[in-house]
Amino acid sequence: MKLLVINGPNLNLLGIREPEHYGAETYADLVKKIEDYCARKGHSVAVFQSNHEGALVDAIQQAYFDKVDGIVINPAAYTHTSIALLDAVKSVSIPTVEVHISKVEEREAFRQVSYIRAACIGTVSGQGTDGYLRAIALLEEHYES
Ligand code: DQA
Repeated sequence: MKLLVINGPNLNLLGIREPEHYGAETYADLVKKIEDYCARKGHSVAVFQSNHEGALVDAIQQAYFDKVDGIVINPAAYTHTSIALLDAVKSVSIPTVEVHISKVEEREAFRQVSYIRAACIGTVSGQGTDGYLRAIALLEEHYES
């Protein structure tokens, strides 16, 4: 599969940011974990991060033109606010899995809303950075079934 992993705002600060929620691994560790898994599985993968909503929309749109098979996205805080990201995923019709490192269901009320979820084939939450690998596995299962 040709995969795109997209990370939203503040995820570049993994390892620095609120380790009680997001753990001690750095963003570089996360990228390596994803790249190593994809190399083992024979997938090609690009990993992208931005703090800017429009740049995330642009990355989703570009995935259509690049013929990406599956998207894994952690929209971070934009999960809870962004109709633009929901519309972007709907627009490209690429199977997409939503990921959250922390267990958002057990956090503040404002984190219980996910706009993007309506456009996703699955959600993985509360599994730390291993959740990204689970999300890729869900895309594998989607194409196997
Ligand atoms: C997050 C959860 C969001 O509520 C938060 O705004 C983030 C990260 C997670 O990975 O657990 O930035 O998406």
